[in-house]
Amino acid sequence: MLSGKRVVLGVTGGIAAYKAIEVSRRLVDAGAHVSPIMTRSATRFVGEVTLSALASEPVQTSLWDEADPIPHTRLGQSADVIVVCPATARLLADYAAGRSADLLTATLLATRAPVVVCPAMHTEMWEHPAVQENLATLRRRGVHVVDPESGRLAGGDVGHGRLADPARIVAAVEAALTEPDLHGLSVLVTAGGTREPIDPVRFIGNRSSGKQGHAIAATALRRGAKVTLVTTSALAVPAEIDVVHVATAAEMQRAVESAAASADVVVMAAAVADFRPVSVAGDKLKKADGIPEIRLEPTTDILAVLGATKRPGQTLVGFAAETADVAVNAQAKLAAKGADLLVANDVGAPETGFEHDTNAVVIYSATAEPVEVPLAAKDAVAEAVLDSVVACRLESAGSSKPQFPTK
Ligand code: CTP
Repeated sequence: MLSGKRVVLGVTGGIAAYKAIEVSRRLVDAGAHVSPIMTRSATRFVGEVTLSALASEPVQTSLWDEADPIPHTRLGQSADVIVVCPATARLLADYAAGRSADLLTATLLATRAPVVVCPAMHTEMWEHPAVQENLATLRRRGVHVVDPESGRLAGGDVGHGRLADPARIVAAVEAALTEPDLHGLSVLVTAGGTREPIDPVRFIGNRSSGKQGHAIAATALRRGAKVTLVTTSALAVPAEIDVVHVATAAEMQRAVESAAASADVVVMAAAVADFRPVSVAGDKLKKADGIPEIRLEPTTDILAVLGATKRPGQTLVGFAAETADVAVNAQAKLAAKGADLLVANDVGAPETGFEHDTNAVVIYSATAEPVEVPLAAKDAVAEAVLDSVVACRLESAGSSKPQFPTK
């Protein structure tokens, strides 16, 4: 997502300026080219050398650089996105008033790129009507605001106004670069492997980590969807996602059935158990009682139920975890379960499927050619899955248009 993107990182003079170093490092690690600008007061908090060393080019501080007579237009025009971190009350006021007071504010006025501001200040300043009105003005103009958090502030005070966590800031930069093509859609995603209890300490489970499902949920959010995630995993989830934690296939079925009624898109990325013990022992099974015989019964196939009851306009995506005959099995599942798309992964291949951070999949469709996604980060696979969802919805919207009779 950030690979090859040109990010101008503006740093203004607040105590949180030192956190811009971490934001710069994360952006560079994600493949972005970071051009840093510091205001004069920012250089009182953080050394230019430090930020220059961790960005992609040396820090610029002045409009009056003889080697580059118009730095603000060069930086503003070439940026894919500008992030101001931290943004002081003064920066917000200058930017809202359209005042070109220094290199950073001049660059902000000389760009058509999306802008992200990350305010950080003392609680009293944050709550001041002037600051809030300036922020409202900026929001109205389409500026993305990463609201501050509560916590320790400069001078030992505790309150609201602390700079957002660097991970949230980088996620906001990614969101600002993303076209919101899922805006207005409600997307339900399942993730992780279910656990079917045998007794109070043992269960039948599988090796699914939930990473791919969580990546799809986060990507759908970034692309503008309202997201519900039904998951067995404890992985971190962006705060804007509605999360339902479940453990068993029956719990997942209940959560999915209640959320699916209003979902435009359902992505069943979870590895749901096919069988569960008929009865769960109330106490731990003891070794001394001999080898237990555990009788199993089938669980409900959630995807197949969704396929049989699908609403018009709803897009249903299944996954297929296979270790052999991937193409044949995946296409059979696509048809049998009534899904629109089926994402097949060979969970036996190196670096793919369960527990890994990477995956390689083929996306089968009921109506279009398969899409092959070679080994990539699970975030990139998530983008590809959602691209196929968008393509599938466009195609079915097109085919449901009234047909004119031909002569
Ligand atoms: N699935 C489901 N409910 C189940 C089992 C599976 O909704 N009880 C869904 C999974 O979430 C996935 C798809 O069905 O989207 C395929 O799951 P998979 O485990 O690959 O296939 P199964 O149908 O379980 O068949 P098999 O285990 O024989 O390969």
